Amino acid sequence: MSLDAVVYGAREVVTVGEDGLKTYEDAAVAVVDGEVARVGDAGAVTREFPPADADHAVDARGKAVLPGFVDPHTHALFAGDRSDEFAAKLRGKTYQEILAEGGGILRTVRATRKADDRTLLENLLSHLDRMLAYGTTTVEVKSGYGLDTETELRMLAVIDRADALHPVDVVPTFMGAHAVPEDRDADAYVAEVVDEQLPAVAEQGIAEYCDVFCEEGVFDVAQSRRVLEAGEDHGLTPKVHAEELSHLGGSQLGAEVGATSADHLLYATEEDAEALADAGVVPVFLPGTAFSLGAEYADPDPFLDAGAPVAVATDFNPNCHSRSMGFAVALACVEMGLAPATAVQAATRNAALAVDRPERGRLQEGTPADLAVVDAPSHVHVPYTFGENLVETVLKDGELVYDGEVRR
Ligand code: NIG
Ligand code: FE
Repeated sequence: MSLDAVVYGAREVVTVGEDGLKTYEDAAVAVVDGEVARVGDAGAVTREFPPADADHAVDARGKAVLPGFVDPHTHALFAGDRSDEFAAKLRGKTYQEILAEGGGILRTVRATRKADDRTLLENLLSHLDRMLAYGTTTVEVKSGYGLDTETELRMLAVIDRADALHPVDVVPTFMGAHAVPEDRDADAYVAEVVDEQLPAVAEQGIAEYCDVFCEEGVFDVAQSRRVLEAGEDHGLTPKVHAEELSHLGGSQLGAEVGATSADHLLYATEEDAEALADAGVVPVFLPGTAFSLGAEYADPDPFLDAGAPVAVATDFNPNCHSRSMGFAVALACVEMGLAPATAVQAATRNAALAVDRPERGRLQEGTPADLAVVDAPSHVHVPYTFGENLVETVLKDGELVYDGEVRR
């Protein structure tokens, strides 16, 4: 038995179970062999597990301790810069107009194809550093800026390498069906994804999920279904970008194929919410995307009414350039009306369900010790103090991985 860490003197420790947040005041957390051995009253915990005996004694006096964030939807691996599109959007250009002119995703595809593996790896590692400093301990990363077999495989290999090199856990998703490459027809490209890319991705053996951009002008429902069903035939679990820019039917498709999550849902209806909840598909909201597009936010109420475990993610990508789950939580509260406790649950335990890591994002006894110490008295301060990073210390599986500096 190794006493990895004792986090003591906390003003509040938050654990997240099926029934929501539980807060302990004047509390401590003891970590043994990478797992939470005890959470509770500071006096009792530190008598049983003296901080002086621990590899890391973390002084959390006056602070709150939360489960590490799980960011279940990102496109964090890419090359190039699209900050000029940010300015164009502010002048009134739409996302679809930019894409139709060969900008947007297609521009990132050109830059990513040209970048060597080392550049791609350095880019991803630097984003993971920033995410970790913001309290994220598990993140999903999609391929999808290759749109050809060679670059898609290269992206997945870089994602796998970053996972091995970095303390943040990385969940790999294949998204060859992220856009239709320039000068290609959607049906022909879907055939390439199904007949060429997916078998190669399965043979490579890295990807866990297969995702598709089910959207007007990108992949329709039939094409998206083909991709997700072929992915399943190759052992990849479906995920779907659904109802992001229009209402097309991605949610119903996600429910039918038993996707782990359906993401975006800006234009989802009550029926969509019910179908997803009935099928056990986790709804993932990406309020940063609505923020960056200047669009209407998704309505979480039908999903909450249906009893679904609503999750929140950053959607970090060149169009939505935020790596901060704290900011996503703040937007979920202010713009989507989630209560702070609901938003924190959405960013931790429920987000973990969206990537099928049910043991993460909980901080309950017997679960992995992924936690963030924030310089504030309670979890409410995470969304309340928007636009700032309150995270001071992060433990991943009980290891000290951030204390003002990333340790990797
Ligand atoms: O989730 N919707 C498609 N993919 C991303 C955007 C990617 C990009 O613009 O580069 C999204 O919003
Ligand atoms: Fe996305």
